Amino acid sequence: MLKGPQPTGRPPGWLKEEKIMTTLETAPGTPVAEPTPQEQGAALLGQIAGYMAVRTVEMGIRSGLIRFVADNPGSTANEIADRMDLDDLYVSVWCRGGFGAGILDRQGDGFVLAPHMATLLLDETSPAFMGGLFPLVRQPEMFDRFAANLDSGARLWWDDTSPDWIDSVKGASKPFNTRLIPGGLSQIEGLAERLHLGGRIVDTACGAGQGLIKLAQSFPQCDIVGVDGDQHSIDQARAEVRDAGLADRVTLVCSPLEDMVLDTPAALIINNLSMHECRDIDAVTERIKAALEPGGWFVISDFPFPSTDEGLRTVPGRVMSGVQFFEAQIDDQLLPRVAYDLLLDKHGFTGLGSFPMTPMHAVTYARTPG
Ligand SMILES: C[S@@+](CC[C@H](N)C(=O)[O-])C[C@H]1O[C@@H](n2cnc3c(N)ncnc32)[C@H](O)[C@@H]1O
Repeated sequence: MLKGPQPTGRPPGWLKEEKIMTTLETAPGTPVAEPTPQEQGAALLGQIAGYMAVRTVEMGIRSGLIRFVADNPGSTANEIADRMDLDDLYVSVWCRGGFGAGILDRQGDGFVLAPHMATLLLDETSPAFMGGLFPLVRQPEMFDRFAANLDSGARLWWDDTSPDWIDSVKGASKPFNTRLIPGGLSQIEGLAERLHLGGRIVDTACGAGQGLIKLAQSFPQCDIVGVDGDQHSIDQARAEVRDAGLADRVTLVCSPLEDMVLDTPAALIINNLSMHECRDIDAVTERIKAALEPGGWFVISDFPFPSTDEGLRTVPGRVMSGVQFFEAQIDDQLLPRVAYDLLLDKHGFTGLGSFPMTPMHAVTYARTPG
């Protein structure tokens, strides 16, 4: 069984050996004037305000308050409280917090969602959906467990995480799948034409199966295989595939990718938000290469972790640095996008290409020699 304490296969310092992680090695830049205590204090206060906003939004999603305001624009706090059977004072406090956080606007005496918040926070089918991030960052697996194990460094693996964690990951990963399939894939020259002819598509580390469903719906002429090392995720994927009426075209395999063996060569293998997690990234890349037909595509969709100090101080860099708290617990770290160029090149893939989908989402692709 693939568990946390197993050796990673990737030697510590893999990134540094490959000379791609400039984050810790960046030469000091031009000296800048030292900020005042007031400026530093204001910066810290901004962080606290962000935390308040995260808690307000997360509570609003979980309680249904944001959904209610979307469906009943202009409702006053008292009307919301009455109709949802909640406490008047608490709802008015939440509404004011939501207004301060910029997710609510005022309309007369009541409130409406601020522009685009319905899409960003509630519409799970949108490529812009961000509502899944708020429950994710509140799960104990993100920070609490890390803090509790700061001294021991005790690791965990996916089968040690809670069903709530798996659910939250599903919510947060959803827009990555939505953007990748089929829009992102359609940006790869020749791939759509090849898939039009039918064949096999494999989703490696398929998790709870949302990529599988998008693949099956987008490429009805192909058969789809999902592989994941976590039995709970595979069980959930199986249920979702069945509920979507796609069980006849989607096969599920519970296996570490390091041991993956597939019978039929695939035209396309994708990996969404998981390649950085592989215990032995070289072994997985070899398995993937072996499972592809000649000229088959391997597409890696992942967070592009900043490779410079400047990148770490950007908003996306700061969010990805937060994700690293969970990644550390499963004994990995997000990788700079260029790491995948080096990896694919090292394993003899050809036709390397990449493109950003958002500041927190990049696609890297290559083919096996034809
Ligand atoms: C962040 S989730 C992503 C799931 C999915 N790709 C999605 O988009 O929702 C990571 C998944 O990768 C799986 N995983 C990570 N490393 C793996 C490995 N070496 N072999 C098999 N599964 C792996 C985990 O079990 C987990 O389900």
